[in-house]
Amino acid sequence: MNGSPTPDRCPCGAGAPDMPSSDVPPLPPPPPPGTRVTVHLGTTALSGSAGQTIAGVLLANGVTAWRTTARGGRPRGVFCGIGVCFDCLVTVNGVPDVRACQRIARDGDVIDAPGATPSGGDHD
Ligand code: FES
Repeated sequence: MNGSPTPDRCPCGAGAPDMPSSDVPPLPPPPPPGTRVTVHLGTTALSGSAGQTIAGVLLANGVTAWRTTARGGRPRGVFCGIGVCFDCLVTVNGVPDVRACQRIARDGDVIDAPGATPSGGDHD
């Protein structure tokens, strides 16, 4: 230690003050291996593994596209898979514009994706 006080903000001045570690809520325990979740795409129940993203559950069930472009109506599903492109948007439990590649599927989730097709059609 050099004796200087610990700053409560980034030296650049941005960001929130450091949060004491005692204020950080603990992560929930991971699900036991083999735990399954069921999500609902319209009237279809889709099964996935606990911890999978919604995109993962959709893809594992053969749904490769779940929305269409505003112009041209071209099918879209996962493109980047890392939360950057927003191609994978769905409505989950009434909440619109959820990135399916970032949202962990929870048992009982209701996914509204009017463009969903079992095989996804042709991507371009
Ligand atoms: S696939 Fe790009 S944000 Fe989800």
